Parts: sequence; C-alpha cells; structure tokens
Amino acid sequence: MDLKMPSKIQILLQAGVVFAQQVYIPANETGRPYCTAGPTTTVQPNSSTPSYYFRPFSYTLTETVRTATPVESLPATTYGPAFTDVSHLLPNLSTTSWGNYNPNTSATATDDGVPYGQAAFSSVWAAASLADITSGLYSTTVSPTPVPTKELVYPPPLYFAPHNCYQFPKDFIFGVAGAAAQVEGAAASEGRTPAVPDFFGQTGAAMMPEGAYDTDFTAIENYYLYKQDIERLAAIGMKHYSFSIAWSRVLPFALPGTPVNSQAIEHYDDLINFILEKGMVPMVTLTHFDTPLILIGGTVENLLTRSYYGLFNIGYQNETFQEAFVNYGKLIMAHFADRVPYWITFNEPQFGAISGPSVDNILKSHARLYHFYHDELGGSGQVSIKMGASPVVPQVPTNQSHVEAALHYNRFYIDTWLNPLALGQDYPEDYKMAIQDYVPLTQADLEFLNNTIDFLAVDIYSTSSVYPVVPDLAACAANNDTASNPHYPSCVGTTHTTTTGWLMGPHAEYTTYTTAGYLRTQLQYLWSGFRRPIVVSEFGFALAAGAAETLDDERLDVARSEYYVAALGEMLRSAWEDGVHVAGAVMWSWADNWEWGSFAHRFGLQYVNRTTQERFYRRSFFDAVDFVEARRARE
Ligand SMILES: *[C@@H]1O[C@H](CO)[C@@H](O)[C@H](O)[C@H]1NC(C)=O
Ligand SMILES: *[C@@H]1O[C@H](CO)[C@@H](O)[C@H](O)[C@H]1NC(C)=O
Ligand SMILES: *[C@@H]1O[C@H](CO)[C@@H](O)[C@H](O)[C@H]1NC(C)=O
Ligand SMILES: *[C@@H]1O[C@H](CO)[C@@H](O)[C@H](O)[C@H]1NC(C)=O
Ligand SMILES: *[C@@H]1O[C@H](CO)[C@@H](O)[C@H](O)[C@H]1NC(C)=O
Ligand SMILES: *[C@@H]1O[C@H](CO)[C@@H](O)[C@H](O)[C@H]1NC(C)=O
Ligand SMILES: *[C@@H]1O[C@H](CO)[C@@H](O)[C@H](O)[C@H]1NC(C)=O
Repeated sequence: MDLKMPSKIQILLQAGVVFAQQVYIPANETGRPYCTAGPTTTVQPNSSTPSYYFRPFSYTLTETVRTATPVESLPATTYGPAFTDVSHLLPNLSTTSWGNYNPNTSATATDDGVPYGQAAFSSVWAAASLADITSGLYSTTVSPTPVPTKELVYPPPLYFAPHNCYQFPKDFIFGVAGAAAQVEGAAASEGRTPAVPDFFGQTGAAMMPEGAYDTDFTAIENYYLYKQDIERLAAIGMKHYSFSIAWSRVLPFALPGTPVNSQAIEHYDDLINFILEKGMVPMVTLTHFDTPLILIGGTVENLLTRSYYGLFNIGYQNETFQEAFVNYGKLIMAHFADRVPYWITFNEPQFGAISGPSVDNILKSHARLYHFYHDELGGSGQVSIKMGASPVVPQVPTNQSHVEAALHYNRFYIDTWLNPLALGQDYPEDYKMAIQDYVPLTQADLEFLNNTIDFLAVDIYSTSSVYPVVPDLAACAANNDTASNPHYPSCVGTTHTTTTGWLMGPHAEYTTYTTAGYLRTQLQYLWSGFRRPIVVSEFGFALAAGAAETLDDERLDVARSEYYVAALGEMLRSAWEDGVHVAGAVMWSWADNWEWGSFAHRFGLQYVNRTTQERFYRRSFFDAVDFVEARRARE
C-alpha cells in the first residue's frame, strides 16, 4: 500500500490540523434517479399509499449458489525479443549465487578478499546490523494445489447493491497489486541483501507508532508461496497481477559491474511463467521503495543521518543512483520484455525525498529506461511511472486562496513529474520555489524526457482537503528547515474533516477514508492536464486487525466491499460522464501484508492467518470482481 504515499506524505510531513470543509458533491445528487420506472406490481400508478392484502405465508428467500469464474487462458503473446537475442545490449555479466545469510553461521565464509564473494555478501548484512532476521515456515517453493470449489462460492448479495449501469470496456485492465518488500519474506535468503524498507522501523518512516513496529521480515512468504498465490488469484477471476522485483535480490551488490544473482533471475522468470500459465497478465514495477542499502552507504546510521531537508530519503539523490538503477532496469527488461506487457519504473517517487538531485535522477533514469525499452530492445508493451496522487480538494471551494492551495499541492506533487515526462515542459514554479537545489532542465533534457510515459499510472487512496498556510506560500517555500516549518515542502495545511464537522468519509486504518467521489475529481485533473489513458495502479482500504473476531467475521468485510464498489463506480462515471479515458484499475492488495512496519493495517482482499500463512478470500474480493465482470462489455 502505499498509503499510499500521497496520503502518507500528508500525514507524515504535515500536522494533522482539523479544519472545516464545504460540500463538493452537488446537492442534486440526492433523490432516486434510478427509480424512474415506478412501482411494478399491485400498486396503483401515482398512489402514495400501499394497498394491504393477505396471502398464504411461505419463505421466499432462497440461497442461490454461484461460484467464481476463473480467468481464461489467452494465446501466448510476445511483447519483445527473448533475452538471448538482446543480451548483447547489456554489459558483460557475471552470474553467481550466494544462498542464505544466517547471522549465526556466516562466519564460516572463507573467501575473504574475493570481490562479491560469500564473505562480501555476509559483510553487507553484518554492516547493516539488522536484528531479528527471522526465517519463516518455508524455505523452498511450494507446489500449488487447485482451490477447492467451496472456497469460490459467492457471498450473499450486498444489501446496498450498486445501481450503476455503465459498462467497462472489453479490454479494461483489472488486477491486484503487491510489492516485494511487503509480501516476499525470505529477506536474507537466496542472495538478497538489505534494502531501505528493512529499516523503516528505525528511521521513523514506519506506518506504526514508535515501539509498535513489527520486525518480522517473513512478510507473507510469497517468495515461496507465489504459485499458490497466483493459483488463488486466477481461480477467483483476476486477470492482471502487479508485483515488484527486489533490486537487492537480483543485484546483491546493487552497482553496475557487480554479479547477477542467478537464483533471483530464476525466481522471477518462474513467477512470470506461472502467471502466464494461469492465464494472467504480469505488470512489473522495477523498484517499490526498496533501494538497496548499499546506495545509502550500507549502514543504518547513514540512513538516519543522511536526511534531506529533514525528510527521510531512500537513496534517490546518491550520485551513483542513476547509473545503478538504469543498469538494473536494463537487466530486468532484457530478461522479461518478451513476456511482460506493462512496466513501471518507480513507485510513487513523491515519497523518499523530493529533493533536486532525487527528482533529477528519477526523471532521467526513467526516461533512459523508456528509450532503452522502446528504441533498443524493441519492446511493444507500455512503460510508465506510478504517481502517488491521492486527491486534495480546497477546504473552502469558494475561497480562491483555498483553491490555489489545492492546485499548488497538485502541481508540486504531480506536475513536477508529469510536466517533463508527459509534455516535455519545465518543472512548475511551485516546485522550483520550494526546492532550492532543483536541477534545471535544459532544452535537450526536455526533448529527451518528453513523451516517455505510455499511460498515466496513479495510486489513489483517500482524499484530504487543504487550506493555505500562513503567512504565505512563498515564505513557507523559502524555509526548507522542516523543524521550524512543518508545512514544508508542500506548504499547504491538510484535514479530513468537513466544514460541517463530519469526516469526509468513513475512516479505517491510518489515513484511509472512503472518499470515492473525489477520485473522480483527481482523474479529471490528470486527464485534462496530461492526456494519456489512466490506470489507477493502486487503490484500497485498510481495516484494523480485530483481535476478538473470528475468521468468518474477517471474511465478511462489507466496509471494504463498499469502498471498492464505490471507487469502481466512480471510475465508470468518470469515463461515461466526464469523458476520461480510464483504462484500468489495480486493487491494493491481493492479501494482507507487511504494511511498512505493521501487519495490523490490513488492505487485503484475502485474509492471511500469519500462524499458518493460509490465505482466505474476503467477500470484498468477490464483490469487486463481480462488479467489474458483470459490467464488462462483451464486444
Ligand atoms: C565476458 O566475460 C567472460 C568471463 O569473464 C569472458 O570470458 C568474455 O571474454 C567476456 N566477453 C566480452 C565480450 O567481454
Ligand atoms: C540465530 O540464533 C538465535 C539464538 O539462538 C536464534 O534465535 C535465531 O533464530 C537464529 N537465527 C537464524 C536465522 O537461524
Ligand atoms: C552513494 O552510494 C555509494 C555506493 O554506490 C555509497 O558508497 C555511498 O556511501 C553513497 N553515498 C551516500 C551519501 O549515501
Ligand atoms: C479565504 O481563506 C483565507 C485563508 O484561510 C482567509 O484568510 C480569508 O479570510 C478567506 N477569505 C474569505 C473571503 O473568506
Ligand atoms: C535550504 O535553504 C537554504 C536557505 O535558502 C539554502 O542555503 C540551502 O541550500 C537549502 N537547502 C538545500 C538542500 O537546497
Ligand atoms: C513534446 O512533444 C510534443 C508532441 O507530443 C511536442 O508538441 C512538443 O514540442 C515536445 N516538446 C519538446 C520540448 O520536445
Ligand atoms: C490461525 O491458525 C491457527 C493455527 O491453525 C489457529 O489456531 C487460529 O485460530 C487461526 N486464526 C484464525 C483467525 O482463524
């Protein structure tokens, strides 16, 4: 999840001041527009009173049994050349494997002094001094078993059924997402070295209050359970599977010229093949916050002390980052371009330090990989970068300074990236005024960055309303000392409460509220400004762990169902009523997972029993799939 980071950014970086807010949904939306047909039986037309009558008693509610429809396999499609045909585009690679790091036994490595050998691998872990590298239940890939039909039976219909009658296009992308650090586990196994999220608890970036951080690095052991996980997703009818590849697994020493981990390549190769075998479509993210720790200098102390503008940084500003990431990205694209049609370079670069060198490195390495993919590899799939772009709305929409604050926020967090990548235009002034060390873009840069996204990928969670800071934006933007200026760098205030004293939507864990109507607002902002088909690449709703609840309660997650049905319904309205090209929706997440420091904030469409690592479908999964597939155009 990612709280998605935009909201995460709001919450972590700004004080949660509660202000009021006005109503944005026009009041004419009340009423019963779907009731135009009128009463159908026994009642006189235009009667305001029912007619009462007797009839013999009988039970009329009957259970019907409907089971999920698994995805259908499609003929194999090729999106690029096979690795053997393009490996000459990469530098000469050496390949090896390292096995598992175990702090108790690693002293046995005898190849001291050998570059990138076993001892070097152990020393990367030792320098990170990560406590509690626990191992989980599994240490080898688990063979899948078919999902029993009884697990695939639909729940009783939702009482508040959606009335939306619009259709999704036949080719609408509909899938689920997860990220390596949140699901894989096997943190020190099969050659992986530490990455930034392993230390979130020690850096204050965790999504848990201090002291409540969960250091269990087994996550949900998807590294070993991926076949069963894919089997379950295919069985319930999921077509698209969005996952991230762990950079520090593929290149344990991260940098160009260092050896490739053969076990990691085999793992992701097998994962992709299994996704295809089950009739699903892979969507690959190259990095999801999991910068190898080596790019921060290899120690937790560096991670703690090398903040930027007082903000947590995840290594993007390092002078070696760009070359290292491009080297890694080319390696992955060359290996899997033949089978993967959708590529995401970065997840939500809004998080992890918006600083001059970070933004510059991310934009340029994204564009270099875009050009490599299309121009050198000849890939025919699509490439994008995931924006963490949860909507903000003006707290008082009739007040121009509030409207300007909301627009400033969007320009700062969205246009900074999409101006260059979608339009070939310079950064907005909103960014340049706040980020004093921004790296100017030359005309040649703009031409190189221009048109390097094939679709807009946006992660949208809940909405905040924003208000202007005092004394003014320019004064806030000029003061980059986050200790004295808590509104830096966004320089707006945020709240989740309306002017009438109500929350904007039902509140679940941390910053997730059901604010589906504003999702449509944000889609309009993105479409009108950047004019690419939009895939909502993450959206979801976190519910708290209920200590006293039973598995049956866990599975009946009506609040999450309502969230998904509302959000998907608003995407349809966006397409049909606003003319926005909404090309896809990817739900976060396919199962409860490690939410950056916690297993208590659960976004899962499946419940996970962490004692047994068993997965159980929640009703929201059936409801979301049913909502889309019942409305998918056949032609
Ligand atoms: C690549 O590396 C291998 C082994 O290190 C070496 O034998 C080979 O000559 C190299 N090839 C090129 C093109 O440099
Ligand atoms: C290392 O030893 C400690 C203490 O016996 C134990 O708790 C821990 O599980 C061991 N770690 C691994 C990875 O085996
Ligand atoms: C930048 O990355 C390199 C590895 O390429 C590392 O040695 C160095 O310490 C990093 N610099 C900072 C400031 O973190
Ligand atoms: C608009 O909002 C600003 C900031 O909250 C406030 O100072 C100003 O009085 C408001 N203007 C009006 C006309 O209400
Ligand atoms: C922060 O602002 C000060 C004062 O304008 C400036 O000297 C400094 O370079 C800024 N920091 C960065 C990282 O740009
Ligand atoms: C960016 O591409 C558009 C066409 O999509 C073109 O009109 C514009 O001139 C380009 N800008 C730059 C800086 O290359
Ligand atoms: C999780 O599994 C354990 C072991 O089988 C069991 O005791 C526990 O009740 C399960 N929890 C739930 C909520 O089903």
